Amino acid sequence: MERLTADLLVVGAGVAGVYAALAAEAKGANVLLLAKDPLPSGSTPWAQGGVAFPLDEEDLEAHLQDTLRAGRGLVEEAVARSILAEAPRHLERLTTMGLPFHPEPTREGGHSRPRVRHLGGDQSGLLLLRGLLTHLQSPVLEGYMAASLLLAQGRVAGVLAISPRGPVEIRAGAVLLATGGFGRLFPVTTNPEGATGDGMALAFHAGGVLRDLEFVQFHPTALPNGALVSEACRGEGALLLNSRGERFMGRYDPLLELAPRDVVARAVHREREATGGVFLDLRPIPHLEARFPTVVASARALGLDPLREPIPVAPAAHYAMGGVKTDLRGYTGLPGLYAAGEVASTGFHGANRLASNSLLEGLVMGERAALAALEDLAFPPKAEALPALALDPHHLPALRVQTEPAGVVRSGEGLRRALAFAEALPLEEVPPLEATRAALEAGHLALLARLLLRLALLREESRGAHFREDFPEEAKEVYHLEAQGPHVRRVPAG
Ligand code: SIN
Repeated sequence: MERLTADLLVVGAGVAGVYAALAAEAKGANVLLLAKDPLPSGSTPWAQGGVAFPLDEEDLEAHLQDTLRAGRGLVEEAVARSILAEAPRHLERLTTMGLPFHPEPTREGGHSRPRVRHLGGDQSGLLLLRGLLTHLQSPVLEGYMAASLLLAQGRVAGVLAISPRGPVEIRAGAVLLATGGFGRLFPVTTNPEGATGDGMALAFHAGGVLRDLEFVQFHPTALPNGALVSEACRGEGALLLNSRGERFMGRYDPLLELAPRDVVARAVHREREATGGVFLDLRPIPHLEARFPTVVASARALGLDPLREPIPVAPAAHYAMGGVKTDLRGYTGLPGLYAAGEVASTGFHGANRLASNSLLEGLVMGERAALAALEDLAFPPKAEALPALALDPHHLPALRVQTEPAGVVRSGEGLRRALAFAEALPLEEVPPLEATRAALEAGHLALLARLLLRLALLREESRGAHFREDFPEEAKEVYHLEAQGPHVRRVPAG
């Protein structure tokens, strides 16, 4: 087996991973990145809207208030304040690196002002990632998946990775997870195929804490195949209509199409049930094709013509607010293990992420986690691989169907049924090098399904993206749910 070493091993090469690697290599560290799929990959290239940067000092407070309001009491204010305060420095740096941000910010749902900076119309994530990659010097192992973590006396000391070209053991002074979310658990998602919660499953299996996993954001406007129709479209004038041709958002929220994302997703869900369909009318947007080339191309690929008629839309699983609990430096509490981006739960997004706050978090926390990890390198002489978690991937289609009760509108009965199904799946521990990518991904999704469903059942209230029709009100007590090993804890927010 091939053996490699690095000071810092970054698992995942989206915005958080690549920006982390850039920060570490700038300090002279020997960095290695793992990417499951050929670059540019991960969820970042699929991000259309952009990066939410506070406009100025005064707007920082307004941006914070918007973030807190959307997060329904579960945003950790100190975390949000510190991430937003660092945002201008990153915008300046990215501009210096030559990233072509459009000078006019856009408004998206939940934002009180236009402050989202986009690139290439609706190609923000792709151009951001490509721009960062042009500066990256460190090697990227493309097509390699971390199958298990290496442990040395309780410290994470690297990974065992598999690939079609063979396995590799990578020993590292610290490991930084930047593997994104787990949208692929759901039947319809805006996420790429690789979004199978790998980092969350690896960290949990090694004893890490997963927090707020029940909060999954459903994007209100995806095409029937899950292709994203950016919220920025509504920011620039697109209207939501039900199948009777009525503009319905006025019945749900005074902010109409620009209400927070959870509110719009539930409204779209209800109108689809009540009237048989919901459509987005993009025709009010000037220069539609130039401004939203990806959206227009995705619609055309399905035989739809958004320049001539409203297009059908529905909610789709989009973003995991929860993940591996970290502190403000991206430290997971497991010696040697850091996490940044969607895989992590810093407390920035609370119960409902504010649109376009995630790329910002990826930048700020990617850099912080890398710098913190470099302060904490250790090279124990011997390390052992944990077993990997695997499931026969033939179970995945049924798991996705059965997990539907964890969708936009949930109920105790549906969640219990789904949990019973997920717990009966033959999820097993296997030697990491014997597992295939498909079996590992299915195993990771099955583990996360069990945890998500358990936490969603325990949260007997409705808050942000977690809506229970049997508990439709927000509870007075505001708490996080944390899962670690067999235990679940309630931890007061704030
Ligand atoms: C979008 O363009 O609507 C997605 C932006 C985001 O999820 O923050």
